[in-house]
Parts: sequence; C-alpha cells; structure tokens
Amino acid sequence: MARQRVAVIFGGRSGEHEVSILSARSVMAALDPDRWEPVPFGISREGGWMTPVETRRAMAAGANCFAAQGKPLLAAGEALGELGSCAVAFPLVHGPFGEDGTLQGFLELAGLPYTGCGVAASAIGMDKALMKALFREAGIRVTRYAVVRAWELADGLEPATRYLEETLGYPCFMKPANGGSSVGVTRVASREDIAGAFAAAIAYDDKVVIEQAVKGQEVECSVLGNEHPEVSVAGEIAPDREFYDYDSKYSSESRTALHIPARITAQTSDSVRELALRMYQVMGCEGYARVDFFVTAEGDVVANEINTIPGFTNISMYPKLWEASGVSYKQLLTRIIALAFDRHTRKER
Ligand SMILES: Nc1ncnc2c1ncn2[C@@H]1O[C@H](COP(=O)(O)OP(=O)(O)O)[C@@H](O)[C@H]1O
Ligand SMILES: [Mg+2]
Repeated sequence: MARQRVAVIFGGRSGEHEVSILSARSVMAALDPDRWEPVPFGISREGGWMTPVETRRAMAAGANCFAAQGKPLLAAGEALGELGSCAVAFPLVHGPFGEDGTLQGFLELAGLPYTGCGVAASAIGMDKALMKALFREAGIRVTRYAVVRAWELADGLEPATRYLEETLGYPCFMKPANGGSSVGVTRVASREDIAGAFAAAIAYDDKVVIEQAVKGQEVECSVLGNEHPEVSVAGEIAPDREFYDYDSKYSSESRTALHIPARITAQTSDSVRELALRMYQVMGCEGYARVDFFVTAEGDVVANEINTIPGFTNISMYPKLWEASGVSYKQLLTRIIALAFDRHTRKER
C-alpha cells in the first residue's frame, strides 16, 4: 500500500501551545513509517499557519514555541495547498481554536477526513458549563456548580459572593468555562480568595464555572472508537499538592504520580469504565477522548470532564492507559487514523 500523507496540525493560540508541540513531536516520531508520511503544520501563537517546510525547519531548530510565524489562514495559500494534498488530518491543537470545534469545522468544510471528535462534541467538550449541563441531563452525577459571566461582576463581587456562599460554599473551584491544563483554575478556600480567583478565570474566558470541591481520587479512562467505542483500564493521577494545577501537570519539579491501574476496587473500576463509555456517547464523541472522574472515599463516581484532544506525548495518560490495555502507541495512532477514514466514509454515504 502506498504511504498516505497525514497532516499533523499543532501549536495554536491557546495556553497549551507548547504542550501541543510536544504531543506533535511524539506522534510524528511514532507514526508507522510503512503506512504514513507525517506532514507537519505549525500554527503560531498568533494563529499564523506555517508551511510544512517552515514547520520542519522550526522543529529541527528545537522550537518549543512558534511566535510571529506563518500567515493568517486566508492568506496561507501555500500551506493550504499542502493541506489539500494530504489524505487525512491529525489535529493536535489543544484548547480554543483547535479542540473547540473551530478547526474541526474548517476540516469539515475542506472535506478532509480528520481524527478525533467532530464539531459538536468538540465544542461541548471545550465548554465546561455546557458539558456539565449535558451530563446532568443524562442523569450522570456531576458536582454542584454555577455559572457567572464577567459582566455580572461589573457592580462588584458582592452579589456573586453571596450567591456562591449560599449555593456552593467552601472550598470550591473556579475556572474559565473554556480552559485546559488547569490554566486559570483556582481552589477557593474562603472569601479572601474570591477576587483573585475571578480575575484568574476571567483572564481566559468571560464565562466562569464555579464548582463545589469534590474530595477524592482523580481517575481517568481512555476511550477509542466511533459507533462502538472501547475503554481502557482506569488510571489515577495523584498530584503532589492540593490539586492538579498547571505546574503539577508540566513542571519538571512536579512529583505528581500516575498509577496504572488506578488504586480503586474492581467494582469501582467497572463503574468508572462503564460511565466513561456512557459519557463519551452522551457527548457524541468519535475517534478518541479521555474521560476524567473523581472517586470519593465512599466509592462514589463523579464525572469531571472529557478532553477531546488530550495530551498525546508518549508519556501522556491517554496513550499510557492504552499501552496498559495492550495497544501500543504506534498501533493506537494507526487505529485513530483508521477511525477518521471510517467516519468520513460513513458521512459521505
Ligand atoms: N470540583 C472540583 N473538585 C476537586 N478538584 C477539582 C474540581 N475541579 C477541578 N479540580 C482540580 O483542578 C484540576 C483542573 O480542573 P479541570 O476541571 O479538570 O480543568 P482542566 O480542563 O484545566 O483540566 C483537576 O484535575 C482537579 O485537580
Ligand atoms: Mg482536567
């Protein structure tokens, strides 16, 4: 079989730009060379699209960030021409303008098969308020939450604080609705933390989600598939601090531990895995996604979120959980690409 060109799209305008480049490096290095030819498309922090030649050059120079490079999408004729010569796209852009359905919509318009979730599931997965509402509607347990808009704070924090204290209490978590990598997330222990927490969240989105804190283990499952998804073993993240913040995710100093399988009973693991499949289907996910939970000391399972483009380096949780379930990183990539073609063919019918 002739090798097919896979457009790996990464970087982008979110706070997870660097992480995305790391994911792309891993994916490109591991794609089965007998079947796939990776064609890299870097997107700069400003949203400029780089050609594969420019991207390769930057990567070879060891770039961990693309700044002031590439052209705005509608002016990026050469990059778009190259994209059009690929058989399939593998978007690895995390966060807004990549994981939120915008890039997926563009690929739909272009008629190019692409890996991962479609437009609607990506958009819902990027909005923690919509995602929680959808899960709650399906009878899936989520923590109690409220949504506050930035402009509702225009006359001061007092009404929002009173509402928060009456409905949620402390401790609670405040986060931008459209976030990722814990960017802008604050644990609010008392009234003193509120102003700083709102400011941190509003810096990223004018929609803020406030949630009652759940005390428990953080457990995650990897899901893979279109109509008949499969779920990996459950894994656990044990942060070395109060919660799994940005530094505990990425700093080399972090002592956060990954436990695979998760340190939960077989029965709880069954519930978590079953619920992961259900949430994946409720949100209309396709291709692949990572589903995250809290498990309380009583063994209650609370849904946290679905990440439609989870970290994808070879040491990231998503591929590691598959490895522990018998699917190698390389095989996983091939299956994800095959799922992209399957969906495309189904939709064309
Ligand atoms: N309701 C909550 N209860 C306890 N911890 C939470 C809660 N919400 C968030 N956290 C902590 O903050 C981290 C990041 O929050 P999360 O909602 O997963 O956002 P992100 O999309 O940035 O990963 C979680 O992994 C967890 O450690
Ligand atoms: Mg998370």
